[in-house]
Amino acid sequence: MDERPHKHSVRIDLGDRSYEIFIGHRLIDDPASLDGLPAGASAVIVSNVTVAPLYAARLISALQTRFRQVHLVELPDGEAHKHWGSLNLIFDALLEKACDRKTVLFALGGGVVGDMAGFAAACYMRGIPFVQIPTTLLAQVDSSVGGKTAINHPLGKNMIGAFYQPLRVLCDLDTLGSLPDRELSAGLAEVIKYGPIADMAFFDWIEAHMAALRARSPEALSHAIRRSCEIKAAVVGQDERESGLRAILNFGHTFGHAIEAGMGYGAWLHGEAVGCGMVMAARLSRALGGVDQSFVERLTELVRAAGLPTVAPVLDGHDNVGRYLQLMRVDKKAEAGAIRFVVIEGPGRASMQSAPDDMVAEVIRISCAGETQCV
Ligand code: NAD
Ligand code: GLY
Repeated sequence: MDERPHKHSVRIDLGDRSYEIFIGHRLIDDPASLDGLPAGASAVIVSNVTVAPLYAARLISALQTRFRQVHLVELPDGEAHKHWGSLNLIFDALLEKACDRKTVLFALGGGVVGDMAGFAAACYMRGIPFVQIPTTLLAQVDSSVGGKTAINHPLGKNMIGAFYQPLRVLCDLDTLGSLPDRELSAGLAEVIKYGPIADMAFFDWIEAHMAALRARSPEALSHAIRRSCEIKAAVVGQDERESGLRAILNFGHTFGHAIEAGMGYGAWLHGEAVGCGMVMAARLSRALGGVDQSFVERLTELVRAAGLPTVAPVLDGHDNVGRYLQLMRVDKKAEAGAIRFVVIEGPGRASMQSAPDDMVAEVIRISCAGETQCV
């Protein structure tokens, strides 16, 4: 733990790929945030047209203390642009600027920028160093940590990607000040997620501090980010490549990814889909006997209190259940075409399970109808 005021550090323990997550204020401006990282000829910042005008100039100033040349690549904004075309813009810039294997890539933005920049770093010259500077709550508590990088395919979310760890993660709390309310709520979905799967005391804390989180209290946000990163670090430290345990971090994501793909990428924010997906997964967990109705209601209420949707969208007016099932089969957790869900075995404990199609169908039916009773 770093003793400097207002700055915390969480370590991801992965042998020679270990790294620190710094959580604090004004980290973007502070050249000390870069201590211990490679210095060299060139750094490339990958950001987007929304975030770059807000924060790139400050980061460039800090980077110029260590790198002779600092370049900026601005991608189009949004989940709908998380594809090959945007990835190629990064490769175009790296090649045009004659970047070599020592070039350090800095991902400045939310999860979309972080996932694409990380994937580009994994691929360019078979791997160059990169640093995550997440600027959304969702990215600070989840996507910048743990080394999953990817782009979407029209047939499935995050289906093309690589595991590739950053050298460091800088969570600058001040960047959350410019985040739209809807995006803050989306990030809260991934914060809430950590409670049911790993830590019900944290779940209690989130319930008690939801108003403070939505009001952007720096203390509340700092604690939420730190605890979320600690839980994620513990899971990733045990199962970096998701051969088992790490899948619990996908609680709510099987239903959620179907919502995102089925609605068209970007229509529902990732966090919104995960929030609603967690309610659906909690209903399934109850049907499988892991939790009771009061748990489902408590989770639903917390998701709602975060400003997130709890009624699932209809994806197909003719065969809604069929469409959900079809989309959920294109999931990295599926095995031999069988969908596998993260379910809550008991409050604070999760595992992977399959479920009968008719049980899943009933969960989809009542979730889209906005019914509160469980299957
Ligand atoms: P996002 O990257 O689209 O960012 C949300 C919006 O906020 C964008 O319009 C962005 O330009 C804007 N923005 C970002 N920072 C801002 C700031 N400080 N001020 C104002 N506007 C700002 O979305 P997200 O929610 O950050 O990330 C979602 C993505 O993350 C999805 O693609 C999801 O699949 C991915 N994800 C990846 C992992 C992982 O482990 N790699 C985990 C969870 C989610
Ligand atoms: N967001 C899920 C994971 O990192 O595994």
